[in-house]
Amino acid sequence: MLWRDNAPISGLEVDVFGGGRVFRTLQPFLESEGIRIGSIYDDVGTFGSAWDPAAYAARLSPPPMLYCVGYQPEALQRMAIRGGRYRKLVQDGVRFATYVSPQAQISPECRIGNGSIIMPNAFLHCRVQLGECVYVNVGALISHDGRIADNVFLGPRATLAGEVSVESDVFIGVNATIIDMMTIGFGALVAGGAVVTSPVGAQVLVAGVPARVKKHLGPESDAPEAP
Ligand SMILES: CC(C)(COP(=O)(O)OP(=O)(O)OC[C@H]1O[C@@H](n2cnc3c(N)ncnc32)[C@H](O)[C@@H]1OP(=O)(O)O)[C@@H](O)C(=O)NCCC(=O)NCCS
Repeated sequence: MLWRDNAPISGLEVDVFGGGRVFRTLQPFLESEGIRIGSIYDDVGTFGSAWDPAAYAARLSPPPMLYCVGYQPEALQRMAIRGGRYRKLVQDGVRFATYVSPQAQISPECRIGNGSIIMPNAFLHCRVQLGECVYVNVGALISHDGRIADNVFLGPRATLAGEVSVESDVFIGVNATIIDMMTIGFGALVAGGAVVTSPVGAQVLVAGVPARVKKHLGPESDAPEAP
């Protein structure tokens, strides 16, 4: 199902920005729903259609556009790059749709921002609010009143208990668990299997049970090491 502005839209064709792993996992679901895939764009033209946002935005009635850019396994702290690309495209006039799998469960009074992808068996409990460009992977659960900011990536079976609040550019790994009312700071990375029992600051990697800070991911960590 394609959504825009928090409501289903009818669309039998969809264009895609980004053609990597996210797209390859999404493609069979789109096709099984009879949604035809039109153009696949990315910013380097890997798929033969170099991206021209102005031309795209100028088309009379472009089909809905999905944002299929994933995290980078070799450099997960680069969620910010993913978000930056999305924001640039929006500034350039592209309006993104959201994909919501028919096998996902969306409770009443949820809000899902444009550019998001909600995969099968994801569960959004009541009053969950997702920002733009949020990826909710298979089987992830966001319990009641969760607040997820823009450009957040939830791995398979990640579990957020009630009233968890996640700031933008955060990656939450496979099967991580975050207990009630925790906050996860901007640009943080929660490792797979971690159990978060205390608030997580900005731009840190936390891992383990209970989760502890393992690394700082901010700009200072990019500075060359002292000789
Ligand atoms: C966190 C992760 C990204 C590794 O990041 P990284 O920057 O390469 O981190 P490192 O391997 O340098 O590990 C740093 C420390 O965290 C620990 N650590 C990393 N991942 C961990 C995990 N999942 N559980 C427990 N400890 C972990 C390492 O043992 C290391 O600890 P040490 O400093 O005490 O030796 C990776 O382990 C992970 O959890 N990925 C999740 C992938 C995922 O969810 N994919 C879903 C895609 S749909």
